[in-house]
Amino acid sequence: MIRLFVNVDHVATIREARKTIEPSPLEAALLAEKAGAQGITIHLREDRRHIQDEDVRIIRKGISMPLNLEMAPTEEMIKIALEIQPYQVSLVPEKRQEITTEGGLDVCSQETNLSKIREKLHYKKILLSLFIDPDEEQVDAAKRIKADSIEINTGKYTELLLAEEIEAELERIQISAKRGAERGLKVFAGHGLNYKNVKNIAAIPEIEELNIGHFIVGQAIYRGMENAVIEMINAIKREVDKQADFGSI
Ligand code: PXP
Repeated sequence: MIRLFVNVDHVATIREARKTIEPSPLEAALLAEKAGAQGITIHLREDRRHIQDEDVRIIRKGISMPLNLEMAPTEEMIKIALEIQPYQVSLVPEKRQEITTEGGLDVCSQETNLSKIREKLHYKKILLSLFIDPDEEQVDAAKRIKADSIEINTGKYTELLLAEEIEAELERIQISAKRGAERGLKVFAGHGLNYKNVKNIAAIPEIEELNIGHFIVGQAIYRGMENAVIEMINAIKREVDKQADFGSI
């Protein structure tokens, strides 16, 4: 079964809109845990627009499941990760003006720096994941720097409107997932996923973990955090079971 890591950044976004103490990303994380999520993801952005340093500490201590900490590959962020020691660090590119992460990390152009970061994280037993676009050269570079996993950016796939373009992007994701697994990398995916578009992604056999945030937190407004998470787990499970049935025919 694919593991669902719930991203609770946007619970903090609501809190930061008023600079108050609620809603609490930790409370949301605990509800996601109760609903059956296998991990929590948070992105500590350089501008601290949602998650704050204190949230990382509180969530790290407060949950009993793995914490995946997304961050830019900067000295400041790596220092924080080494101090707080989450289960996993996911490196993402970051631009101040962007609304959300806009594309994957260019691993090819910074292999030396990323190898050094990997060494530091591994020394503290923190896993390293790299958020990359579905591009075979980036997959190969991730392998060269000895990352533990890649998270394939599904953002473009979720934004396209034309069927043939969606199909072509999906194929790129499938090819990259296969290449990653063949090279011994664990393969994850995320960005822009909802109950509907998650199906094609959950059907990719190499994918082990999904990071989903915005849609779940949005649904939680209507139906509560636990129900929103349960429904996502069910959507993923239905697809995984369907694939298993196809396989047994
Ligand atoms: N993966 C990465 C690397 C991200 O930056 C984000 C957004 O923070 C997600 C997954 C989750 O995307 P969404 O919030 O659109 O579900």
